[in-house]
Amino acid sequence: MQKLILPLAIACLAFSCSPKKEAAIFPVVIATWDSGKPVCEASWEVLSQTDGRALDAVEKGANSIENTINCCVGLGGNPDRDGHVTLDASIMDEQMNCGSVAFLERIKNPISVARAVMEKTPHVMLVGEGAQQFAVENGFTLESGELSEGAKKSYEKWLEKSEYKPVINIEQSQGAGQHVDVPKKLENGDYNHDTMGLLALDNGQNLSGACTTSGMGFKMRGRVGDSPIIGSGLFVDNEVGAAVATGQGEEVIRVAGTHLVVEFMRQGNSPEDACRLACERIINVNPEKAKTFQVAFIALNKAGEYGGYAIQPNFSYAIKKGEQDTEVIKAKSHYSKEDLK
Ligand code: GLY
Repeated sequence: MQKLILPLAIACLAFSCSPKKEAAIFPVVIATWDSGKPVCEASWEVLSQTDGRALDAVEKGANSIENTINCCVGLGGNPDRDGHVTLDASIMDEQMNCGSVAFLERIKNPISVARAVMEKTPHVMLVGEGAQQFAVENGFTLESGELSEGAKKSYEKWLEKSEYKPVINIEQSQGAGQHVDVPKKLENGDYNHDTMGLLALDNGQNLSGACTTSGMGFKMRGRVGDSPIIGSGLFVDNEVGAAVATGQGEEVIRVAGTHLVVEFMRQGNSPEDACRLACERIINVNPEKAKTFQVAFIALNKAGEYGGYAIQPNFSYAIKKGEQDTEVIKAKSHYSKEDLK
């Protein structure tokens, strides 16, 4: 046996037959959902510069969707059950610096407030009134708090259907601790949580990530999801890779989802496999319940390899690299449409 090993080793050295590693590809940016396409393009304006930093790129991408009116990110998003839009966001760079805000009201760009928390305070997370006060002190405008047209309509519709009553009446009539259910799906059939998560690898081969959301529409007042929680909604480890989550935040928090994805990559799994393994971890908590909600992860490793995976079908993500056009990829999922019939 030993006789064979030596010549093989010499041959390997001569013809470099060590396991082949693809050359790293960067810069690259990926973002959740079809709506990630313009977000990747906004990030690319930074990443395409020779010295464009991944952190600036993800902030710019997140800002671009926060500045539009849509159901699930920014001040145009669906409100909580009391009619207020409350925003969650987090950001993380290549040095494990991280910042986040939760339950933030009337501020247009929560991701930039999260970055200010990271860069200007000794803390990682600010919430509610304190986060708003910090934002205003740092030059962010306090907006009116009025709902967007779309959110107003959805909220009125939700009030009808859910037979909503003021919280105090619910507590009196149904007993403390009971609450109106948050709908799992929106009126149009989409899952109620299209968080924007994005990850970038820049020309210096450094990773950063951002995650921004108005959270579940019609949630209980004060509810915070996974998006502002480092290790749940977002995690970046510049030695290995980065991951971001979208979907029902409670299920992601339970398993510290994005930290798990990064650890799976550290063990040698591809980004897609790491996302799949984290989804399976969630499913294993309660397989029956897992048929009723959506969770999806996307991940990007240090070599610029990327992937995504979801529990339910119909999750997509966008990717931009090199001079190629931004592509939208339909992710694989644990359940198929047929499984759920
Ligand atoms: N993943 C967003 C949320 O649950 O709020």
